[in-house]
Amino acid sequence: MLDTTIAGAAEQYRIKAAPYYRPTGREVEQYQAAYDARLPMMLKGPTGCGKSRFVEYMAWTLGRPLITVACNEDMTAADLVGRFLLDKDGTRWQDGPLTRAARIGAICYLDEVVEARQDTTVVIHPLTDHRRVLPLDKTGELVEAHPDFQLVISYNPGYQSLMKDLKQSTKQRFAAMDFTYPAPEVEAEIVAHEAGVDRGLADKLTQIAARSRNLKGHGLDEGISTRLLVYAGTLIARGIPAPDACRLALVRPLTDDPDMRDALDAAVSTFFA
Ligand SMILES: Nc1ncnc2c1ncn2[C@@H]1O[C@H](COP(=O)(O)OP(=O)(O)OP(=O)(O)O)[C@@H](O)[C@H]1O
Ligand SMILES: [Mg+2]
Repeated sequence: MLDTTIAGAAEQYRIKAAPYYRPTGREVEQYQAAYDARLPMMLKGPTGCGKSRFVEYMAWTLGRPLITVACNEDMTAADLVGRFLLDKDGTRWQDGPLTRAARIGAICYLDEVVEARQDTTVVIHPLTDHRRVLPLDKTGELVEAHPDFQLVISYNPGYQSLMKDLKQSTKQRFAAMDFTYPAPEVEAEIVAHEAGVDRGLADKLTQIAARSRNLKGHGLDEGISTRLLVYAGTLIARGIPAPDACRLALVRPLTDDPDMRDALDAAVSTFFA
């Protein structure tokens, strides 16, 4: 009975079709080795550089269900672990996403985990060391993680202040991989594939992004991401003229500073007159 329930729940979180992921280094084999040892993983890198896509791809490759939780500062431990709900028959316990993942042997992806408060983050500790258990304080249950369970967190270095960083005791429970924007040829290949545009156009978009990334720390918090390049390509593929698509998808989302916008618009004009 329990088995079918677990299998049914796992099915619900299974990735149905192979996600497109273009490796940029040795990350696939490294992750595979980490998963084989069930090491918790931390993926570090700027927004829109492929972290979530990579996790989806690895979950699919490894044949594991994937449960993703977008973390935020209002999140409490109960949002991860679970809570009692009131219904007509009284109270009923409902597992949170972390508990469900531990029970069914999913990969649990806590996206932007630094956003969560530290007292929330510590609930993952017993799951990430040799114990691999999750104590449910409210019910008294000690959930033993399924042998296939793995925890993955993502982390955007640079966005958090000193006040908002992971504790060393949290960080040092994970092996970590650095993600960056792909090399230009690889990024153009990704943009061409994702947006359905030709390679020449994708190359130009990638070069605009490269210029914006040089402005990081000189008026821009972050350069144009691979995600935004895919947006721009997608708009162009739908008939929006390239200069307009670039303004919509590459320049306007990035900054409100008029001088920065001019600088980026000028970069766009260099490639698309
Ligand atoms: N290596 C890659 N292979 C395939 N697609 C990629 C790759 N890198 C980036 N992309 C594309 O960029 C988009 C954004 O990537 P993704 O959502 O994984 O970013 P992220 O790093 O998780 O960002 P965030 O920190 O904002 O969540 C993807 O939807 C995909 O189209
Ligand atoms: Mg993501």
